[in-house]
Amino acid sequence: MNEVSGIAQTPNTAPEHPGPGEGLKGIVAFDSVYGNTKQVAEAIAEALKAKGHDVEVINLGEGSKAPVGDFMFIGSPTRIGMMTGNTKKFMKSLDVNVWKGRTVVAFDTIMAAKDPARSGKGMLIENGAGPKLKEMAEKMGLNVYPQVLRAEVAGLKGPLAPGAVEKAKAFVNEFAGTLSK
Ligand SMILES: Cc1cc2nc3c(=O)[nH]c(=O)nc-3n(C[C@H](O)[C@H](O)[C@H](O)COP(=O)(O)O)c2cc1C
Repeated sequence: MNEVSGIAQTPNTAPEHPGPGEGLKGIVAFDSVYGNTKQVAEAIAEALKAKGHDVEVINLGEGSKAPVGDFMFIGSPTRIGMMTGNTKKFMKSLDVNVWKGRTVVAFDTIMAAKDPARSGKGMLIENGAGPKLKEMAEKMGLNVYPQVLRAEVAGLKGPLAPGAVEKAKAFVNEFAGTLSK
């Protein structure tokens, strides 16, 4: 079966080098079962907009499409240590020739650790959706941001742990500082 069937492949028309002072176009693509990763995606979008960038949020659960932008955040809930099928399918659908020249940032949601020593690592399986997304993107030859944004949820289905939204926004601010204007 063709894993990427049904995904429209429109050409990426975002300019390679926006002029001085222009904001960039960012994509925030996410999957979410209970809405926590969606909340993180929205926080990311808000922080990017606050930095003057155009943002398109793509909910992979509502059907995927070829993303058109200068950089992209891709996020998934961690489910049994893995990314969701929707996220994997989206990754496989990416036009590597277009996206290898544009930064891709991985993010995920994980269950908050009760043991403070495991904070930030997830409770069930250390290596979750975010690190796997990063690894997959690297194997595809994409230009991947070295840090992975990991947002904690307080229980199996959420809600987001206190401070998770603020942490996501701080991460985005740091990332935005690395973008060439
Ligand atoms: C079936 C299932 C498996 C899960 N496996 C993991 C896991 O391996 N590691 C982890 O940190 N969290 C795990 N969780 C918690 C999820 O990360 C949490 O449900 C998710 O972050 C919520 O995101 P969402 O609201 O966007 O779906 C699991 C949750 C479910 C329901």
